[in-house]
Order: sequence, then C-alpha cells, then structure tokens
Amino acid sequence: MRAQKVNCDGVEIHAAHGYLLAEFLSKGVNKRSDEYGGNITNRGRIVAEIIQGIKKECGQDFPVIVRTSGDEAQYGYNNLEDAKAQALLFQESGADALHISYGVAVQSNYIATGFNIPNAKAVKECLDIPVIVVGRINDPMLANSVVASGSADFVALGRQSICDSEFVNKVKENRINELLTCTGCMQRCFYTSSFEEGEGTSCMINPFSGKESTWVIETAEDKKKILVVGAGVGGLQASWILAKRGHEVTLAEKSNFLGGQYRLASIPPMKQDLVKTVSTYAAFCEKYGVKILSNTFVDEQFIAENPADVIVVSTGSVPIVPRIEGIENENVYLANDVLASSVLLQNKKVLVLGAGLVGAETAELLGEYGNDVTIMDMLDTVAPLAMKRPRMDLLARLEKHQTNIILESKVIKINEDGVEYEKNNQQNTLNGYDAIVLAFGSKPNNQLFELMKQKHPSVYSIGDSDCVADAKKAIYDATKLALEI
Ligand SMILES: Cc1cc2nc3c(=O)[nH]c(=O)nc-3n(C[C@H](O)[C@H](O)[C@H](O)COP(=O)(O)O)c2cc1C
Ligand code: SF4
Repeated sequence: MRAQKVNCDGVEIHAAHGYLLAEFLSKGVNKRSDEYGGNITNRGRIVAEIIQGIKKECGQDFPVIVRTSGDEAQYGYNNLEDAKAQALLFQESGADALHISYGVAVQSNYIATGFNIPNAKAVKECLDIPVIVVGRINDPMLANSVVASGSADFVALGRQSICDSEFVNKVKENRINELLTCTGCMQRCFYTSSFEEGEGTSCMINPFSGKESTWVIETAEDKKKILVVGAGVGGLQASWILAKRGHEVTLAEKSNFLGGQYRLASIPPMKQDLVKTVSTYAAFCEKYGVKILSNTFVDEQFIAENPADVIVVSTGSVPIVPRIEGIENENVYLANDVLASSVLLQNKKVLVLGAGLVGAETAELLGEYGNDVTIMDMLDTVAPLAMKRPRMDLLARLEKHQTNIILESKVIKINEDGVEYEKNNQQNTLNGYDAIVLAFGSKPNNQLFELMKQKHPSVYSIGDSDCVADAKKAIYDATKLALEI
C-alpha cells in the first residue's frame, strides 16, 4: 500500500535468491509441518496469499510481479518442475507477471550467456501472463531472440545495465559498436571490496558506472598534443577520453593488434566477451578522432621526431622468466605464446609452472585441447587473486579436465621432460612431459617510462607498466588520469 501511495506503478514480490519468501518456496529449506510447508502448493501458499492481499488492498488493477527461481540449482532444492507449478499457483492467485531468475543469482563468465532462458521458456509454456527472464543476457540480439522465439516476453538486464546504462538507447540508435558488453567477471560490481578504491558498485570496463555525477568528461581548457604509447585496454581507454576532452591524441602500438594482454585474456574458454571491450574502446577512439598508429615502436627517436606535450606510457608488462637451469630448453614455452596460439599443444602431456590466474586459465585452455595437464606452484592456492565465484567455476573446469595440481612446490631445475622441485624440504623429480609452459607472472615493461621521465617534462605511466595488477586497475587508472590532464 505504501508503494501505491508514493505512486509506484506496481510491485515485485521477491521470492528468489534465498530470501525469506524463496525459503518458503524451496523444498531444500522449507521443512514446516503446517499448511505453509510440505508439498509444492503449501510451500507456495505464503506468496499466493501475499499476492491476494496486495490485490485486495490496492485493487485488482495494481500490477504485481513475482520474482522466483526457475531452478535453485542445488540437489534437494526446487527444480524447474517446482518452479512451473508454483508459477501457475501465483498466476491463479492474481500475479500479473512472473520474473524468472535462478538459484545462483549472479553467475560468472564460466556460465553461458542466456543460461536461464530455457527455464523461463518452460515456465512461460504453463502461463497466460507475461514472463520476464534474467541471467547473463548482455547482447541485443540475444535479448531480441528471447522475445522473438517466445521464450519470454521481457528481458531483465542486471550487470549489463551496470556495465552500460545506455544499453537500450544505444541499441535504439543502432550504436552497437559503442556498446560496452558485460564480461561476467563480477570484479567491480559484485566483489566491490576487491578494489582498493573501496566499496561501491561499478564496472571493470566502465569505471564511470556509479560515478556518473562526479566523473564527467569535460572539455579541457588547455588543449594538448598527447602521445599514448601502448594500445592495451588502459591505453585505449585513456586515448578516447583524452580525445573526447579535445586533446589531440596519437596512440602508438608496437604490434598490429589492439588490446594487449587483455586480448590474450579473452582466449581461454568462456572469456570471449573481453574482446568486445577492445572493439568498443577502439570505436570510441575512432569516434573522438584518436590517431592510431599500429606496428609503431616508440623510442626516444620517435618522440624527438613526433613531439608531444604529454606522454602517457601504457606499455604493459613482460613475462617473468626466472633464472632456472634448463629454462631455455626447446620444449619450454611462455603461457602468453600458448594463449596467442604461437605455440600449439594438443594431446600432449604438459606441465604448467605457475598457478596464478594466467597459469590456471592457460591450463584450462590446454585441457580443452586434449592435453594431460599438471600445474605446479610455490603457493598453496590456485588463482588466489581471482574473485570467489569465477575462481570456483575455474577450479571446477580444471577438475573436469582432471588437471593434476601440485602446490607448495618450488621448481629448482628444468629437465628434458620435466622438473626437479622442492617440497617440504625434499627434492623430487617429475618427468614424462612433452612441454613445459611458464606462467611465473609479469613485471612492468617500464623502460620507456624510466627513460622519458628524465627527459620529458610531462610523462605518466599507467596500468601494468606502472605496477603489474589487472585490467580493472589499468582501466581505472587510465580513466582517472585522462580526466585530470
Ligand atoms: C551488484 C549486484 C547487486 C545485486 N543485488 C541484488 C540484491 O540485493 N537482491 C537480489 O535479489 N539480487 C541482486 N542481484 C542479482 C540481480 O538482481 C540479477 O538477478 C543478477 O545479477 C543476474 O542478472 P545479470 O546476469 O543480468 O547480472 C545483484 C546483482 C549484482 C551484480
Ligand atoms: S564488473 Fe564485470 S561482471 Fe560486473 S558489470 Fe562490469 S563487466 Fe559485468
């Protein structure tokens, strides 16, 4: 009634995601022995009564939506059949629409986009009222196909709206190349405390999200000639913002592709959406007039010949290759080369040294290629810096590939077909491997910055070339700097 009093057009009863009403609906949680527990209908009774109560107090015309899970995705909990039956009960009780969510509300990139559509479709087949579907829908055509196929009547965008609040307008105006596509990483929207800036919902690829009123791209008073070196995501993001502010921006990239390490990060399975970030930033660069020079290596001479008022160095990182005996053997490769497909390993026995995120994701990719993979690390955890849910999903993938994981083990020598390593103060040998892949982490590629900071009055370093971290920091730093110059 209060909602109606303050002119809300309707209400949504939240009976999903493990909240109180979801607990009533759930056969996994609800063990009541009265009329609100037991069978499907009894468990749904409280929601049915709430719908009827609202209709009685607010009028039959006051819209009521019920949000519930199409599947609680846990053994002994509600499955699709429970969801269908309860949806029917809610329709009979007067609900105007059903909003079909899922037991695990926020799914990572390891769960396919649109994973919940079949559940919504099955519920819709039982009902006459409209059905809304939510869950990893991040693409306009995917959303359109939901409606066109009759799987649901409406699509709810969760993180896609955090990632790009202009999604709908951009689609309407056919600015698809400007869409920022949610990658499902969960890094800045869900695990907000993982970011040193502090709590607060934002987005890894769109740091303006949540800062709309404070981070405004204003025209610079003093227009400058700016050289950005390195077209990873940090360099791209800095470039388009600087150009939008009216600066004359040249972005030089030594290779013939954009995206740097981030592009490589898109190669392992289920990470394909990352490349859309690159193409969107590139579209912004084009829109705001950034001059992109590919295959262009920037050194002191280049800078002398192409003078700039400001230099932004975003040259990324280079892999760490420790001095271990045998590291230069023929069958030793860099994880980056495996990701870039410069090295193709298929149906082989492969040892990956380093179980950080790059090592673990490379191991997963190698597993997909039919390799028998072992990961080894000095630390006691695989991918310790990954966010909780994506990490759980990644570990499940490694388990599926029967990846052998050896932790708290320090490699001391690389042999022809394996390694010698130390564990619990004991020396061991591991052999029988066709290839060894190095994923020992990265260090800043900061030579240009170190050189130019002594010779140029205005040089900045962002992202990995400043301090090796991750994409969210590189993009955040780039944005912050570009707003300040
Ligand atoms: C930052 C964030 C906060 C959320 N908060 C809630 C919440 O308070 N209650 C809830 O039921 N669902 C919450 N959700 C889940 C969303 O409502 C939505 O169901 C979920 O994100 C799946 O949609 P998506 O894949 O389009 O993001 C939240 C999701 C995110 C990313
Ligand atoms: S932080 Fe990641 S999951 Fe969250 S909205 Fe942004 S891209 Fe999507």
